[in-house]
Amino acid sequence: MLARSSLARAAVRSARPSLRAAYSSANPAPKANTDYLQPTHLDDAVPKSVSDRLAKYATVSLATYARPPFILTKGKACTVWDTEGRAYLDFSGGIAVNALGHADEGVQKVVAEQAGLLVHNSNLWHNEWAGELALLLVNKTKELGGMGYQPTPVDEIEPKGLKVFFSNSGTEANEGALKFARKWGKGVSGKKGDVTAPSDKVEIVSFRDGFHGRSLGALSATWQEKYQAPFAPLIPGMVPATLNDIEGLKTAITEKTCGVIVEPIQGEGGILEATEEFLRALRKRCDEVGALLIFDEIQCGLGRTGSLWAHGSFPVDCHPDVLTMAKPLANGVPIGAILMKDKVADIIKIGDHGTTFGGGPLQTRVAHHVLTRLTEPSFLPQVNSLSASLRDRLSALPSLFPRLIASAPRGRGLILGLPFKRDEYAQRILKLARERGLLLLGCGKSTVRFVPSLIVTEEEIEKCVDLLESCLVVLNREAEGV
Ligand SMILES: Cc1ncc(COP(=O)(O)O)c(C=O)c1O
Repeated sequence: MLARSSLARAAVRSARPSLRAAYSSANPAPKANTDYLQPTHLDDAVPKSVSDRLAKYATVSLATYARPPFILTKGKACTVWDTEGRAYLDFSGGIAVNALGHADEGVQKVVAEQAGLLVHNSNLWHNEWAGELALLLVNKTKELGGMGYQPTPVDEIEPKGLKVFFSNSGTEANEGALKFARKWGKGVSGKKGDVTAPSDKVEIVSFRDGFHGRSLGALSATWQEKYQAPFAPLIPGMVPATLNDIEGLKTAITEKTCGVIVEPIQGEGGILEATEEFLRALRKRCDEVGALLIFDEIQCGLGRTGSLWAHGSFPVDCHPDVLTMAKPLANGVPIGAILMKDKVADIIKIGDHGTTFGGGPLQTRVAHHVLTRLTEPSFLPQVNSLSASLRDRLSALPSLFPRLIASAPRGRGLILGLPFKRDEYAQRILKLARERGLLLLGCGKSTVRFVPSLIVTEEEIEKCVDLLESCLVVLNREAEGV
């Protein structure tokens, strides 16, 4: 896969001057691309056979997503195809899941092999892969830095200090982490260790615009009106705070707080980054009151920022006690995980938590393969190089389209967001892009999100932004009433 990206990058670089040179002050601002003004994948153009099929499914499927009228059938790397053979350049990456792209041959091989051996055997018995994956997660975290460890030479790493629990999704990983925080609070307050005694150290602090999942617990930590309001009342003891408001931490986090959960980069909320100073202050405040600090890296973790963990590029005094992950861990095969310090693991006893499917041999073997690939020495530097190219191109757009785009792109690595001046502009761009064969995501109120596979090529980045520029030209004309 690396070869695929490197070759493409070399080809693109030799075919055109470097982007930075092209946009230097000596050169006039580049004109936006207009090659893709005409739609090629119109929603209205689906054949009757497809709309009939979708209508039939709609009668029996609960509609919780507003989906466009086409049916995807296969993918390869960063391209997916619908039943009509139309190709889409996929910059949604399965919502930051398909780190190694679609139909990856290595993933295909281990899925097939393991499916022929053992798919499921429950957590009542050991399997060959869950333990191996836990070892790899702990060792790679220490080697590359995270969870309180500076990057550590491999021959100095000892497999202890951290422990892993496997779940089936991101929501479930967070749900487990919140439960652990509750038990932690009971363990450190009142009658020490007596977890049946009443305790008032039960509050969980989380941040506005964050997203932690849809179960009642994770939803209660997700302070977004549109998600919470229909399901109120939510669980008690949840306290909202504001990302990057250091002053506000003193009042939100108190002796009653057992845990704090935060995304180092809020993904669904609009690609909003927590600052280093904020994370340091958060760590300090959690230590002052004896609360667990939980980082939700379900969207921003596992290589997406160009380091293994989004928090791994910060000093250890900004690191958490508990880390949740999911999305790309098995490249689309469902899995989640909670990585925790031993002090947290020590309070959880046999029978406290469980799952039927979590940690099964199929998904843990695939995740072992994926994590091995993501942490190969050349992989993460490549993500940073791709990020620089995408950011370069996106950074030129605010001055090309001042009516539409609010500011420079936000984010790190391959989790970038382009903020628009109006929500409807961002929504319209998603449709214009889709109707030209480019899949993008929205997030926050008015941001377009770029979370492609981490094996995206330079050529695909060029094509994505060329397509986007054409869409912006169309939208600009619409906004000007031309
Ligand atoms: C930061 C974050 N946390 C939690 C979740 C929920 O994960 P899942 O959909 O796997 O349950 C998501 C999903 O988008 C997420 O982005």
